[in-house]
Amino acid sequence: MTTRLGSPRRTLILGANSAIAAEVAALCAARGDRLFLVGRDPHKLQALVASLGQAVVGHAAVDFTDFAAAEPLVQRAIASLGGLDQALIAHGLLGDQDRSEQDVAYARQIVDANFTSAVALLLPLATYCERQGHGHLAAITSVAGDRGRPRNYTYGASKRALSCYLEGLRSRLFHRGVRVHDIKLGPVPTPMSAGHPQNVLWGEKRAVARGIVRAMAGRRLRVYLPRHWRLVMAIVRVLPEWLFQRFRFLAGR
Ligand SMILES: NC(=O)c1ccc[n+]([C@@H]2O[C@H](COP(=O)([O-])OP(=O)(O)OC[C@H]3O[C@@H](n4cnc5c(N)ncnc54)[C@H](OP(=O)(O)O)[C@@H]3O)[C@@H](O)[C@H]2O)c1
Repeated sequence: MTTRLGSPRRTLILGANSAIAAEVAALCAARGDRLFLVGRDPHKLQALVASLGQAVVGHAAVDFTDFAAAEPLVQRAIASLGGLDQALIAHGLLGDQDRSEQDVAYARQIVDANFTSAVALLLPLATYCERQGHGHLAAITSVAGDRGRPRNYTYGASKRALSCYLEGLRSRLFHRGVRVHDIKLGPVPTPMSAGHPQNVLWGEKRAVARGIVRAMAGRRLRVYLPRHWRLVMAIVRVLPEWLFQRFRFLAGR
């Protein structure tokens, strides 16, 4: 059955416990997808799996900073799904910016959680999709990666590195029939952004999840969600440094 969100697929969601990824999983289940879900917290994962019923053909609780676990995990997921049509890498760690400025081991944790772990997962995923000659690979990055700001530049830098990685991977795989999607999110109310002051530019997790499923169903390879962030960040990116520094809401803590 084909819906407005596309036809059913064999879908791997990495970081499925994320508030946004859980919404994506629910939309994919409703579309008729077969799902393999991976999260870190086994209790949250069990609850999610139970809520999605028979759509879930397998699941695993894994910390993605255990890089050596990535390849066997991907192989196991593909075997359970009976192949792979799409994979979404959704996990992320905002972390404590102040601490990351004083403690290199902590800064590295943020970089590893957002960037190195995604690379470890993309290596086997890309190899598999390249061999089979089709597939959609997506990762959630952030508008924080478009311009470094004092409030979150360790996190932003790790997401920007991931966007750059996805860009290169996209070109490597494009003529092999594989599509690589960079899903750049603006702020959304979830546990990650709890306590942050909200404004009209914020997204809503269900609408954002719908945007992710739609992007992966089609040819939108570099997507801002909500969509108004494309324009906002186009402006923020081109602001000259002397002007950027005058805006406290951008250049301040
Ligand atoms: N919310 C926003 O404002 C916003 C804005 C821009 C981009 N994003 C991005 O959107 C994505 C989804 O985040 P969210 O907003 O839905 O936040 P969330 O609900 O707090 O989810 C973050 C998830 O990342 C997982 N995670 C963190 N480190 C991990 C690790 N080492 N191994 C495995 N899982 C790990 C956590 O898993 P467990 O729960 O299993 O521990 C958690 O479920 C992230 O990539 C985030 O960077 C969010």
